[in-house]
Amino acid sequence: MRKASLKSWINLLKGNPNKMHLELVIAFLILFLAIWLFYTRHLGSEYGPTTMKRARRMIEFAKITKKDIVYDLGSGFGGLAIMASRRAKKVVGIEYDFLRYFFSIIRAFFHGARNVGFIRGNLFKQGISNADVIFLFLKQKTNQKLKAKLKKLNKGARVVSNTWTFENWKPARQDKNLKVYMYVVGEE
Ligand SMILES: C[S@@+](CC[C@H](N)C(=O)[O-])C[C@H]1O[C@@H](n2cnc3c(N)ncnc32)[C@H](O)[C@@H]1O
Repeated sequence: MRKASLKSWINLLKGNPNKMHLELVIAFLILFLAIWLFYTRHLGSEYGPTTMKRARRMIEFAKITKKDIVYDLGSGFGGLAIMASRRAKKVVGIEYDFLRYFFSIIRAFFHGARNVGFIRGNLFKQGISNADVIFLFLKQKTNQKLKAKLKKLNKGARVVSNTWTFENWKPARQDKNLKVYMYVVGEE
């Protein structure tokens, strides 16, 4: 087995240099993509999009009105923020990764979503005190670290989390199949 794989590497090196070049470029691109999608893990979460079904449920649970200011903490490519903007007064997406942040701005522009803004930064360091609704799709551990910050929000603010829960908080609504959990500040 070991011999065979060594042989195939030797054959690869002996082969068409142009083909080898292409293979190396592809390998490098795959490695870059994997690192790019995962490097924010230590800050709070790697990248992964909220599916359409879950996004709809999150928006439904949040009961967003035209008076509400909504935050998506870790907004990725901005899909959820743009979707929520149709019902909200204003939506703010906070995203650490520059490319995701930049893509979100362009995406919002082409969607004509003028009430969405994006901040490039660490969600733990940004002010969110005016939030009526918070969306999250992070990690179980990250949610626990955010508890103190979320507790300071106005009473009645809705915190809606995709997949991950807040330990020892009681959800006001939940969809166990889709793993969407909604908490109300002051009633948690
Ligand atoms: C799982 S994705 C969710 C994207 C989007 N909210 C959605 O539901 O489709 C999590 C995003 O949070 C970002 N993120 C993780 N930790 C962060 C931090 N400390 N500050 C800002 N963004 C962060 C990641 O870069 C990633 O794009």
